[in-house]
Amino acid sequence: MHRLDGKNIVLTGGGSGLGRELALTLARKGCRIGVCDINVEGAEETLDMVKSAGGSGEVLRVDVSRPEQVEAMAGHFFSEWGRVDLLINNAGVVSVGFVGEIKLEDWQWLFGVNFWGMLHGCHSFIPRMKTQGGGHILNVASAAGLLCMMEMGPYNTAKAAIISLSETLRWELAPDKIGVTVLCPMFFNTHLLDNMRYTDQFECDFAHSTFEHARMTADQVAAKAIKAVEKRRLYCVPQGTGKFFWGVKRISPSFFSGLMSFINRTPVARPIYMLLARLGLL
Ligand SMILES: NC(=O)c1ccc[n+]([C@@H]2O[C@H](COP(=O)([O-])OP(=O)(O)OC[C@H]3O[C@@H](n4cnc5c(N)ncnc54)[C@H](O)[C@@H]3O)[C@@H](O)[C@H]2O)c1
Repeated sequence: MHRLDGKNIVLTGGGSGLGRELALTLARKGCRIGVCDINVEGAEETLDMVKSAGGSGEVLRVDVSRPEQVEAMAGHFFSEWGRVDLLINNAGVVSVGFVGEIKLEDWQWLFGVNFWGMLHGCHSFIPRMKTQGGGHILNVASAAGLLCMMEMGPYNTAKAAIISLSETLRWELAPDKIGVTVLCPMFFNTHLLDNMRYTDQFECDFAHSTFEHARMTADQVAAKAIKAVEKRRLYCVPQGTGKFFWGVKRISPSFFSGLMSFINRTPVARPIYMLLARLGLL
């Protein structure tokens, strides 16, 4: 167990949702947190909550899709604090629809934040963590990157890339005492859908239904993620449903893909997805 009590943390997307809950979980451990976001107002609110919960820190406006801003973020915290023990690449956005119908600019927007944002963080922090003699990176992916549900092409592929890079880094950074954890949650309620880009109304209704009926809350996901970091686990799949679907896919990939293709050929595919959402199974 590598406890995070009193450590220095840099967190992207800290102004809302899961990022805020991760900050609060760490604040209760007395951590110092660099709350970074494009939404400065939200980040300031998070920092106030962090201070009330027993932590400390500061806010930095950072657009993670811009490499020079992420490099400046790393330079700032390493020079001000001397070391950073944990980087959390959490900032994310969502775009859904069928491939061919989603605008290319929406793919680029999503990849800019979800994939490049995470890569910029790794690129700027890893050399500095190597120099300081260790550290940990928590990459926020999604169960979408493991399960690849239809009409979520950009999100699935960016999150799958995050999982793949996290696995690569886990082996690559082992000699440098830098740990890596990748978080793969199913749906939980946050502000993620406020800026969602979609191509038809069903996708919007479905996404809102998954959020409304989600059984796990953002603070529960955050608690499981921090526990996984402290236990130096590579994968964190917080919800039981995520573990179940991922388990089925690993045991029999052909059964899983056959089932998904069969459901999607029937006219009741969308009603089935909506039912699963309303039952809180996604
Ligand atoms: N909510 C879910 O169901 C769910 C499920 C699986 C994974 N996730 C992942 O969790 C992470 C957090 O999302 P959330 O659900 O808390 O959503 P959220 O919208 O509440 O929080 C995301 C934060 O990222 C910030 N952000 C967006 N673009 C940014 C940029 N370019 N630079 C810096 N910050 C930026 C936003 O301002 C916001 O504060 C995301 O990576 C998301 O993909 C969420």
